[in-house]
Amino acid sequence: MIHDFVYDIPVRVYFGRDQLQHLGAELKKYGTRVLMTYGGGSIKRMGLYDRVVKEIRDAGLELFELPGIEPNPRIDSVRRGAQMCKDHHIDVLLAVGGGSTIDATKFIAAGACVDHDPWDFLDPAKRGTVSVDKALPIIDILTLAATGSEMDSGGVISNPETQDKYGALYPLLLPKVSFLDPTNTFTVSPYQTACGAADMMSHILEVYFNMDQDMYMLDCFMEGLMKTIIRYAPIAMREPENYEARANLMWTSSWAINGFVNGGKRLAWSCHPMEHELSAIYDITHGLGLAILTPRWMQYCLDETNVSKYVQLGTNVFGINPGQEPMAIARQTIDAMSQFLFGTLGLKRTLPEVGIDETHFAVMARKSVGGDVLQGFKPLRQHDVEQIYRMCME
Ligand code: NZQ
Ligand code: ZN
Repeated sequence: MIHDFVYDIPVRVYFGRDQLQHLGAELKKYGTRVLMTYGGGSIKRMGLYDRVVKEIRDAGLELFELPGIEPNPRIDSVRRGAQMCKDHHIDVLLAVGGGSTIDATKFIAAGACVDHDPWDFLDPAKRGTVSVDKALPIIDILTLAATGSEMDSGGVISNPETQDKYGALYPLLLPKVSFLDPTNTFTVSPYQTACGAADMMSHILEVYFNMDQDMYMLDCFMEGLMKTIIRYAPIAMREPENYEARANLMWTSSWAINGFVNGGKRLAWSCHPMEHELSAIYDITHGLGLAILTPRWMQYCLDETNVSKYVQLGTNVFGINPGQEPMAIARQTIDAMSQFLFGTLGLKRTLPEVGIDETHFAVMARKSVGGDVLQGFKPLRQHDVEQIYRMCME
């Protein structure tokens, strides 16, 4: 059955090489005092910092800076940024970087408008009573194709004190404008390119693996996105300055998660809650954690009632011969996904290889299911998730 749904993605995107000339005019729409946020220095090494500062100065705007936003961004950076906005009466935020910088900036934008701790926007214990009713406008310049934060309303923040990593979605945190210049991703390492590809792939699978039949057109669209990742990620890893590959990956990152593919499907994600527990405690790269979990989760969920979805993926995306038993096709599909993640992308295959043992499995599994059931493709309880973590040990 095709459900009713609302489609509303009001982000202006400037895509391509020569778009930064529009930055000054876009910022000016929101005021004159700009807080620019960025990470550990990659934007300086690649020369982007200088170009952005020049555009801001040429536009006659006043620039403030918050550097040092961490991968798996921390709530302390958000707190610092929110305080800077208050102290300096910031009008508009400019995030220059990957998903971590953009995510932190989203909660800075919200934190700047309230007196309470911005962590309250993320903490599940508080979320029922706190919402984002006001936020500073956000513009971003994306430098890494992965999370889709440039075109969604969500963000994920870590709290090392409590070993929590939580995500939340608020419509007011959607960027007003995103600058997507594929050349800004030329300096992304092969490893981060691979992790980004695994992240996008997972965003699509979280929606694709759903037995709530919706539109055929959307499944075809997702299959096209997955084929794009499979085709272009290895090229971008081999030839970092291949514009065609970087452009395809960048636009796929946005469309994998901007809500278009959801249609009216009843959704609940599975691998992401399981992964966020890994990166919360062990600070690993999000896409790497997803790569390790994804084939095991696919294997754990497979049964006679849902095998058709695996067959669809295997035959349409990986080109597996359809003239076989459905279960045989499903197993080959899982193998093909593993081969892509661990062979083609060269990502590590097991949790021990990234320094994770069984110590925290029980608590991570309990937290990832929200203390009850994860109502994803297949409902998962704590013991199911513990089993999936254990499957990642070898
Ligand atoms: O900090 P800098 O120096 O900028 O270096 C970064 C960082 O070390 C580097 N990098 C970024 N652009 C680069 C570059 N290096 C060279 N050249 C460039 N052009 O790459 C490293 C990783 O950056 P990060 O921003 O952490 O990566 P990513 O974009 O993958 O973001 C990951 C975070 O986003 C969250 C993840 O959980 C994780 O915390 N997610 C956000 C989502 C969302 N907003 O919707 C959804 C995702 O599922 C995900 O959970
Ligand atoms: Zn993700």
